[in-house]
Amino acid sequence: MSIGIIGAGGVARYAHLPAYRALGLDVGALCDLDAGVLRQVGADYDVPITTRDPLELITHDAVSVIDLATPPGSHLELMEMAAKHRKPVLVQKPLCFTRQDFAGIRKLKDTGARVRMNLSGRHVSAWMKVAQLIKSEEFGRPLLCTFSNRDWWDRQPGRWDHGIDQYIVFEMVIHHLDLCLFWFGPPRRLTARTGSHPRQRLQRANFATVTLEYESGLIVQIIDDWTMNEYAFAAGHPFEDVIITGENGVIRASSERVEWSPLNDNNIAVWHRPRPGQRLTSEELSFNWFPDSFGQSMRCFMEDLSKERKMREDWRHLVDLTELTFLVAESAASDEWVSFRPCPY
Ligand SMILES: NC(=O)c1ccc[n+]([C@@H]2O[C@H](COP(=O)([O-])OP(=O)(O)OC[C@H]3O[C@@H](n4cnc5c(N)ncnc54)[C@H](O)[C@@H]3O)[C@@H](O)[C@H]2O)c1
Repeated sequence: MSIGIIGAGGVARYAHLPAYRALGLDVGALCDLDAGVLRQVGADYDVPITTRDPLELITHDAVSVIDLATPPGSHLELMEMAAKHRKPVLVQKPLCFTRQDFAGIRKLKDTGARVRMNLSGRHVSAWMKVAQLIKSEEFGRPLLCTFSNRDWWDRQPGRWDHGIDQYIVFEMVIHHLDLCLFWFGPPRRLTARTGSHPRQRLQRANFATVTLEYESGLIVQIIDDWTMNEYAFAAGHPFEDVIITGENGVIRASSERVEWSPLNDNNIAVWHRPRPGQRLTSEELSFNWFPDSFGQSMRCFMEDLSKERKMREDWRHLVDLTELTFLVAESAASDEWVSFRPCPY
């Protein structure tokens, strides 16, 4: 099975392509509107077919699965094209940033289109370990979860990012909403506030606080702040600190390390990614976020292509996560609490 990547920009270069190479996944074709980018990236990764025409890539016999890594404003048109030619699509988040495009993409379900949103966080070993701990009886009922993600992340003028009012919501909060769906399921209601930094070129919302409430009483607080200038020279992106309090103890986690502290017990269990030169002590934390999880995400998609049940789950996930993301953006714009109703599929 051969992958055709549309969009050879940042994320394809530093995440998709290195991860596919490491896993031995075959990239048969690459498409980008920018001839210079296409030539460079195609040569760096020895991709046999390169084209500036997405339709040529989609209809090529050598391509069996489409990896869509273009900006969100192009997704509807490219997904329609792929659906027409019955090619499955793994599409980068966010799916889109207008409700009109969202409605257009939802219509593709009726055509039998096979699509999955690429939320690679679900394939990060640390986040999978957290899911396993939360679901264990030992943890008990989750009560409070806090996410804190800090960075200084500005964007060059002229990039597509400047066209998204609630930028941080569609760029980063979406990852944390997805982890909430993964770990806790759908929330009952939410509220959000966002803001921007006067000294950044990106004059769009670039910090956010989001509160989610669950039927069970669980409360989640997400703080994503990419205007944190003391991080301007720090290496690595993104950083998360996650703390989850359960009835029977506390989980503290980052994408590289997980700690489980049971209540009234001095023994803290720790799982972590190996440091340079260190050998793995725990299989569970074998995959990091960049770039490992991107390879796992594509590998799982290709394995699941023939599974009817997965197809339904993928549509439900795509709709739920995109709806949640829009609700967060709309709540931030209106200062209101909004209710969430999971997708009926
Ligand atoms: N999951 C993650 O962690 C993660 C990280 C970064 C970016 N992303 C997402 O990936 C997508 C791309 O982001 P990026 O930072 O790589 O953007 P980018 O601007 O660096 O690259 C996008 C590339 O797509 C090309 N392109 C645009 N429209 C096209 C079209 N119609 N046909 C062919 N090529 C086209 C552009 O020429 C550009 O080279 C976005 O949706 C972004 O949110 C996800």
